Amino acid sequence: MNAQEDAAGLAAGRRHFLDLNEASSADLRAILTDSARRKAARAGWGAAAAPDEDAPLKGKMLAMIFEKSSTRTRVSFDLAMRQLGGATMVLNGAEMQFGRGETIADTARVLSRYVDAIMIRTFEHDKLLELAEAATVPVINGLTDKTHPCQILADVLTFEEKRGPIRGKKVAWLGDGNNVCASFIHAAGQLDFELAVACPASLSPERDVLDWAEKTQARVSVTRDPAEALMGADLVVTDSWMSMHDPEHTRIRRHNLLSPYQVDEKAMQVANPDALFMHCLPAHRGEEVVNAVMDGPNSAVFDEAENRLHAQKGVLTWCLGAI
Ligand code: CP
Ligand code: NVA
Repeated sequence: MNAQEDAAGLAAGRRHFLDLNEASSADLRAILTDSARRKAARAGWGAAAAPDEDAPLKGKMLAMIFEKSSTRTRVSFDLAMRQLGGATMVLNGAEMQFGRGETIADTARVLSRYVDAIMIRTFEHDKLLELAEAATVPVINGLTDKTHPCQILADVLTFEEKRGPIRGKKVAWLGDGNNVCASFIHAAGQLDFELAVACPASLSPERDVLDWAEKTQARVSVTRDPAEALMGADLVVTDSWMSMHDPEHTRIRRHNLLSPYQVDEKAMQVANPDALFMHCLPAHRGEEVVNAVMDGPNSAVFDEAENRLHAQKGVLTWCLGAI
């Protein structure tokens, strides 16, 4: 988005957060800086729902639409809004009228008359885009079958608070080239780090995401060999072998394909000695990752989960023009 489009979007009440390759690198940096600043300012506060001192979103309402399960995204967005001085309402997709034929565009127009921003977790990415097109308030991608941008902001925040700037570092992704992996690819290009994806051929990241990486000269590579990806890695990441959109009948085939990509202690030994381990969670212990790594000294998974809260604040304040 250029400055003119950005100003126009804000004037129209819309600064969507749809994908990491749509915001500028400078905006992503501003979001991360604001997230870290707010986290530091609250250090030691016990009361989760007590607002940040400046409460920049006082009086604002976020609607959260969920068509899939969630623990972290739901709780962290809710708390983030409360701490920013605002409030949320949770809408279960199955109970909304679009499940009975109302269009997404009409839903967007109606919700825009009530609330200040909309977060949606859904299946088809096009549904997110349709909602964003028709909404007159900012729309946030809380995960689609294709991407999960809010997650990767939290991951970068976590990496940088433990290891310094991610720029120039190497990240190894092991396993399914899924929605979380796609947002990692976008982040590699936007924040200038190397990403090596090790995955089976049939579970490679989507072609258009790889094309974007190639076009923007992002340092992204795809290999079948986990050791090649792990060599020299400063961060090792994996995700569930069955995403919420994957049909149950593919479970055995996927497990067979993905078992060579399990993150175990031997895999971590191939990476740099101080390499961190991350997982967006929920994890399936004993499948994509073993307990010794999840609970090991280099695991950052629970800091990563906490940082969803802090990173959502950056996203919300950016969307609503408070940074
Ligand atoms: N990582 C993540 O998005 O978790 P939830 O599915 O619990 O929201
Ligand atoms: N890839 C996972 C991420 C869950 C947060 C899924 O889509 O189910």
